[in-house]
Amino acid sequence: MNRDALKNLSFSAFLRCSLSYTLPLMENLQHWQQKFEAYLSVLPHTDGSHDLSHFRRVWRLADQLSSEGEDKLVILATCYFHDFVSYPKNHPKRSQSSKDAAEKSRGVLLEMGFPNEKLDAVSHCIEAHSFSAAIEPKTEEAKIVQDADRMEALGAIGLARTFYVAGQMGSKLFCAEDPFAENRVLDDRQFAVDHFETKLLKLPATMKTARGKIEAEKRAAILQRFLDDLRSECAKDSDI
Ligand SMILES: [Fe+2]
Repeated sequence: MNRDALKNLSFSAFLRCSLSYTLPLMENLQHWQQKFEAYLSVLPHTDGSHDLSHFRRVWRLADQLSSEGEDKLVILATCYFHDFVSYPKNHPKRSQSSKDAAEKSRGVLLEMGFPNEKLDAVSHCIEAHSFSAAIEPKTEEAKIVQDADRMEALGAIGLARTFYVAGQMGSKLFCAEDPFAENRVLDDRQFAVDHFETKLLKLPATMKTARGKIEAEKRAAILQRFLDDLRSECAKDSDI
């Protein structure tokens, strides 16, 4: 930033600007993480699958997937705001969630004094994280956050979140007559277990980072074990 631009800044804007440029990286990340948590923790929250604990876990995973070359502040902001707008799975605007989240987040981040020059990068990461939006991630940061968020749909946590979301939509656990859709069309709006085939077990193939893919395959195996156990418990000739 040049001298003339600095002169035109208000004192508080100058302070915010100086802080974001001069604090060492770790301290800067902590500073912004505290701000995001303070902001998000007081918002009314009714969705246990897209709450603050989900944002923290996505950040922890994304932090582990990232390296020196990536912009960690862009990743951090995306992890905390990627689900800022999240329409229910059966909502007509579902596939627009990430675009609306990007737009709404931009306004909030601007208000907070987040570095202006990073807003486009954050917006792209937020828009591209979504499975239903089908936007190809163009940056390493976007690939990392997309992978981290997809990991949260797999494994033990993914299992819990799947049935939580199905409960919110009023879906059944599974089709009692044909749990694994051997003689019917899959319908994950009606049956929670159908969601494993329609989406979850396909996620490892969509991972963009090598480490994300390995972890996604491990977590998909947990879902597969659950399906195997379910099959055995549902078998007509099963004994106890
Ligand atoms: Fe998410």
